[in-house]
Amino acid sequence: MNLYHIQNLEHYFQVYRHSVDAPEQFWAQIAQDNFVWQKPWNTILNWNPDTAEVRWFEGAQLNITENCLDRHLETRGDKTAILFEPNDPNDPAEHITYKELHTRVCKFANVLKDKGIKKGDRICIYLPMIPELAIAVLACARIGAIHSVVFAGFSATALSTRINDAECSMVITSDGSFRGSKTIDLKGIVDEALEDTPTIENVLVVKRIHSDIVMKEGRDYLVQPLLDVASGDCPIEVMDAEDPLFILYTSGSTGKPKGMVHTTAGYMVYSAYTFKNVFQYQEDDVYWCTADIGWITGHSYIVYGPLANGATTVMYEGVPSYPDWGRFWEVVQKHKITQFYTAPTAIRALAKENLEFVEKYNLSSLKVLGTVGEPINEEAWHWYNDNIGKKRSPIVDTWWQTETGGIMISPIPFATPTIPTFATLPLPGIQPALMDEHGKEILGNQVDGRLCIKFPWPSMARTIWGNHQRYIDTYFSAFAKKYFTGDGAFRDATGYYRITGRVDDVIIVSGHNLGTAPIEDAINEHPAVAESAIVGFPHDIKGNALYGYVILKETGETRNHENLRKEINQVITEKIGPIAKLDKIQFTIGLPKTRSGKIMRRILRKIAHGESDQLGDISTLLNPEVVEAVIKEAL
Ligand code: PRX
Repeated sequence: MNLYHIQNLEHYFQVYRHSVDAPEQFWAQIAQDNFVWQKPWNTILNWNPDTAEVRWFEGAQLNITENCLDRHLETRGDKTAILFEPNDPNDPAEHITYKELHTRVCKFANVLKDKGIKKGDRICIYLPMIPELAIAVLACARIGAIHSVVFAGFSATALSTRINDAECSMVITSDGSFRGSKTIDLKGIVDEALEDTPTIENVLVVKRIHSDIVMKEGRDYLVQPLLDVASGDCPIEVMDAEDPLFILYTSGSTGKPKGMVHTTAGYMVYSAYTFKNVFQYQEDDVYWCTADIGWITGHSYIVYGPLANGATTVMYEGVPSYPDWGRFWEVVQKHKITQFYTAPTAIRALAKENLEFVEKYNLSSLKVLGTVGEPINEEAWHWYNDNIGKKRSPIVDTWWQTETGGIMISPIPFATPTIPTFATLPLPGIQPALMDEHGKEILGNQVDGRLCIKFPWPSMARTIWGNHQRYIDTYFSAFAKKYFTGDGAFRDATGYYRITGRVDDVIIVSGHNLGTAPIEDAINEHPAVAESAIVGFPHDIKGNALYGYVILKETGETRNHENLRKEINQVITEKIGPIAKLDKIQFTIGLPKTRSGKIMRRILRKIAHGESDQLGDISTLLNPEVVEAVIKEAL
């Protein structure tokens, strides 16, 4: 039985059954047959559910870049590895072959080494979607440095928090970035962030927009002159299976962002395995994922998964609307894209525009469409299916998380029949469970519950950087011995899963995972604000938008509310980034609270949804009288 490449539904069921009956043998077989190892493992899985410690392939040694680059040189050296489509459609696309990519990664790795970077050091990468981003990521992996990519839309404060949490010694950035008709001063943001980051020794700067930037003597270096003299040969650092590969931050419902730690062997095996199956990638395909490498989707399904399979992976620098809303489809036509993977929020934005933007282009190369990041609504699904896939290309609605490292529940194209809004079936090796509020597993079908995973899989995040207790508390304490996802799900009569959304205080806005607490903390820093609470409310394009309830200090009450709204959003932009701005801000005299003082978000959510007639019993509140006032002022 071919475990690596699933061909049809019967094959899926066979493989799935085997993966559940004998998970260790299953993953060992896949790891052995499809990757290059410097040394084999002694143990396949070590798992202690009480301490949430998990180790896969212990004793094995490898380097992920040998699997993503070196091993392809002989058979695919001249094949395009990265196809770079620049922001400006008039600039030529860049085809970087496996040979060139290998050389450029080696040179970059040698530059890092020259600057004193060694195995285990943390490097922050703050770059736009240009080839150097993927190259810097792989260069870190080549020498065993741990990369921490921070999405280049985050603010200086968000960047410095992440740098300090991981104690990074270097930042790799660019002078700026192109985003549609705008440019963004990335180096300026980095300079501001570095005012308070004692561990940073050096900054490497890629030139992209050729703007005037300030270079700090002894700290900042332009990378190109260093690359020009670097050797294109850099031996791999031999890594242990469980050596950290990267840290990637994700929002929690409370406190500072969580630095999820992914390790080398398990992550490689799982990201590659799922890429091959979920996209049914064939040798001459041209695969395009529109995510940014600053998110997990980009790590697993622009860089590591595709390259480990010797695929051609597209990196697009720009936005869907530049120079007009036809850009995605122009790129599909131009590069004859075969697999296209995007987010529901992008689909909804595209669907709002005139169909002429789609009809102008030939999309017949497309074979598989994908979505990720949030539940896809039925209307968006049909628009995608009818107009982009022309009802021929299966849509893979892929459910997963930063923490899971790879896709967990998804159809396999041409094997699993799809139904709109259903992520369908677990991938081989993944054992979901639905749990009730008392911690019991809900068996059978046509049931709703909290989504957990019962058994470890190779690419699960191993810990939160510097805080294993928080990892245990967040993921392994709600339900004994199970990984809790934070999502709710429904299992239908055939066993298909539909993700119903977050059951905690995380809100997904345009596919971005935002915690309420950090946004509330930012708002509360405004001198006129006494207290605040954030909830989500339905939004046509973003899926959810943010609704803020703000109590002003007495001194602030007389001020112009419109100006205050702008100022509050300005503080959020500075502390977190523009993605966390509030769409609606309601000034209120109080917030409904429980007797223990906890804000009752359930009630605030109902009011923001315009469902204040469905509040249920509010008599147990500490201050039921404020509810009426909040309803009266609702926006
Ligand atoms: O709520 C789920 C939602 O996104 C969350 C994970 O967000 P993040 O860690 O940023 O990773 C996003 C990209 C993998 C999940 O807990 N989510 C993700 N994909 C889907 C989804 N919700 C419904 N359907 C999906 N396909």
